[in-house]
Amino acid sequence: MNYSPTAPVSRRNPKVTVIGAGKVGTTLTQRIAEKNLADVVLLDIVAGMPQGIALDLTEARGIELHDSKIVGTNDYDDTANSDLVVITAGLARKPGMNREDLLQINAKIVVDVAKQAIKRSPKAIFIVITNPLDVMTYLVWQATDLPPQKVVGMAGVLDSSRLQTFIAMELGIAPQDVSAMVLGGHGDLMLPLPRYCTVRGIPITELMDDSTIAKLVERTRHGGGEIVKLLQTGGAYFAPASSACLMVEAIMHDRSSLLPAAAYLQGEYGLNNIFLGVPCTLGSQGVESILQVQLTPEEQESLQASAESVRKNLKLAQASAKI
Ligand code: APR
Repeated sequence: MNYSPTAPVSRRNPKVTVIGAGKVGTTLTQRIAEKNLADVVLLDIVAGMPQGIALDLTEARGIELHDSKIVGTNDYDDTANSDLVVITAGLARKPGMNREDLLQINAKIVVDVAKQAIKRSPKAIFIVITNPLDVMTYLVWQATDLPPQKVVGMAGVLDSSRLQTFIAMELGIAPQDVSAMVLGGHGDLMLPLPRYCTVRGIPITELMDDSTIAKLVERTRHGGGEIVKLLQTGGAYFAPASSACLMVEAIMHDRSSLLPAAAYLQGEYGLNNIFLGVPCTLGSQGVESILQVQLTPEEQESLQASAESVRKNLKLAQASAKI
C-alpha cells in the first residue's frame, strides 16, 4: 500500500453561540456539546455564571467523551464568527403570567442581544427561543437585517413533541412511533392538526375517538402552562432544549429536515410579513422551503386568528423595543 503524506488538515469545529445561560440555554449547551455538534460559547449578562456553567460542563468532558469546547462569557467578542446563534435570553414565565406579559421586557432584551451578536457573526443563522416566540423571532429578523430564511423560531418542534408524547401515552406505545404536527403561533392559539398526526403512517383519527383527541389537543395547547404550574419557579427546559437541539442538528448536518418552526411567510397560507409556525425544511442555509399542507376552512380560520394575535403583540413589542 502506498502512503502519500498530505498537508495536515486544518479543521475548525463549527461554532454555536447560546445567548442566555438560564435553564434552557444551559441544557441546550449540554446537548449540543455531548452530541459533538459544535463548540459552544455560552453568554449571559450575569457575571461569572456562564463561566461557571462552562467550566462545570467542561469538567465532565473526559467522562462524556465529546470533543466540543465550551466557553462561558459575558463578552460578545468571544462569540465572533459563530455559524449559529441561539437566543434564549429573557425572562421565563412565572405562575399566572402569560407569554404576552413578558412581551415588553423580552422585546428590549432580544433586540439588544441580536444586534450585539450579528455585529460579530454577520454570516450566522439565528434560532430564537425567547417567548413570546413568534414576535421575538420577527424582532430578531429586524434587528439583524438578515435574509428572512436565516432567522427561525423554535416552537413547533416542542409543541409537536408534546402532542406526540400525549398520543403515545394515551395509546400505550413508543413516542418514536408517533408523528405529530402543530402549526400556528406558540401560545394558546396554536393549531394542532390531528388529521396529520400518525402512528407509523396510520392517522390517529382511526385509533382514537374525537373526544379523546380533543383532550390531547387541549393538553398540548396548555402544555407550557402545565409545567409552569408544577415547577412554580420558571418554565419547561428539558423538552425545549431537546427541540432546539434538533433544529441545531438539522442546520449543522445540512439535513433538510422537515420540522415545524416559526418561519417568515410571504404569501404561504395566505399570510404575509409574519413569522409563524409552519412545516419547513431546515438545512445549512436556514429555512430552505415552506411546505403548504391542505387546511380545512376552520383550520385556516384558526391560523388566521393565531396570526392576528401575533401581529397585535408585534406592534406593542416594536414600540417598546423602539425598532
Ligand atoms: N443578555 C444576556 N442574557 C440575558 C439578558 C441579556 N440582556 N437578559 C436576561 N438574560 C439571561 C438571564 O440572566 C438568564 O440567565 O437569560 C437567562 C434566562 O434564563 P431563565 O430565566 O432560566 O429562563 P429559561 O427557562 O432558560 O427560558 C428562556 O426560553 O422558553 C423560553 O419562555 C422562555 O423566554 C424564556 C426563554
